[in-house]
Amino acid sequence: MDFSKKLIAWYLENKRDLPWRNTTHPYPVWLSEIILQQTRVAQGLPYFESFLNTFPTVFDLAEASEEEILKLWQGLGYYSRARNLHQTAKTIAIQYNGEFPKTYKELLQLKGVGSYTAAAIASFCYEEPVAVLDGNVFRVLSRYYGIATDISSPKGKTEFTALANEEMSRQHPSQYNQAIMEFGALQCVPKNPDCMVCVLKDSCAALQYKKVNELPVKLKKTKQTNRYFNYLIVEDEHQYIEIQKRTQKGIWHNLYEFPLIETEGEMDLKELSNLIEKESVVEHSILEIIEMNEESIIHLLSHQKLFIKFWWIKTGGKNTAALSWEEIKKRPFPIVVYNFIEKYF
Ligand code: ADE
Repeated sequence: MDFSKKLIAWYLENKRDLPWRNTTHPYPVWLSEIILQQTRVAQGLPYFESFLNTFPTVFDLAEASEEEILKLWQGLGYYSRARNLHQTAKTIAIQYNGEFPKTYKELLQLKGVGSYTAAAIASFCYEEPVAVLDGNVFRVLSRYYGIATDISSPKGKTEFTALANEEMSRQHPSQYNQAIMEFGALQCVPKNPDCMVCVLKDSCAALQYKKVNELPVKLKKTKQTNRYFNYLIVEDEHQYIEIQKRTQKGIWHNLYEFPLIETEGEMDLKELSNLIEKESVVEHSILEIIEMNEESIIHLLSHQKLFIKFWWIKTGGKNTAALSWEEIKKRPFPIVVYNFIEKYF
């Protein structure tokens, strides 16, 4: 049996029963693939269910407000994906009368749909023989064929794309793509795979040459920057709090947050108090400043490490723009901020 036949046979025996696998309708397939680019299956499942329950059709999603979508997406990160999801739902609803395009090439035109997602939809829904290439597929191919080309390089992308398309089953594109991804997720796992029970063990190059733990090769180039965020929880005399929408480009675009002072390093109470006074960031008279977490909360993003401190600032007077905690919790926040709110307020 060749590679693709073995993979498919393994898949039919071992596949997980996942809701997006019981349909060839492109709407849930697209939704699941966008969510699964952000997270693992276990964490993605509740998001998938809540999106589909709240927006059963692409028209419902198109008609939603961006804020509703961001709120449902809260915690998945990379919020531009959620905005692209909304944009594409509108495109499908209005320009395509609710019908997704049916070919890889046309699917690629949609916002937020890259080669991976287009291949997934085209193969799962329309049996177009175009190979998916995600982290799981890179790993399986590089190990099985013993290829040490850097998967993050353009050369690696080209080489693996060609190989993936050569190997894919022409008879069962959907099953083949699902199979190789599932095989990477369950059997050919990144760390300490159990190769002794693997159906490909007799022909796997990495196993034969003892390179399983060295493949795939990914030369990390991403530079990380440290940022220091000080969130001011400014409370007025009615215990109402000020929040603002992040309108600038970059992380967390269009999510809510507290007034923010970004600094070059971590602040202590004295330094922050001076800064607040110097920059007149708080309008009303300050009664008290409480340092809520002495240790910064560390939040990792793909290229940034955030050190976050929250400062509770009690003020006199009434702030007409401020909101109650109940109202605040309905808005979409970065998950690190939302978790802090839930814990303390
Ligand atoms: N990860 C990405 N797409 C997936 C899918 N369709 N099934 C399971 N895991 C996935």
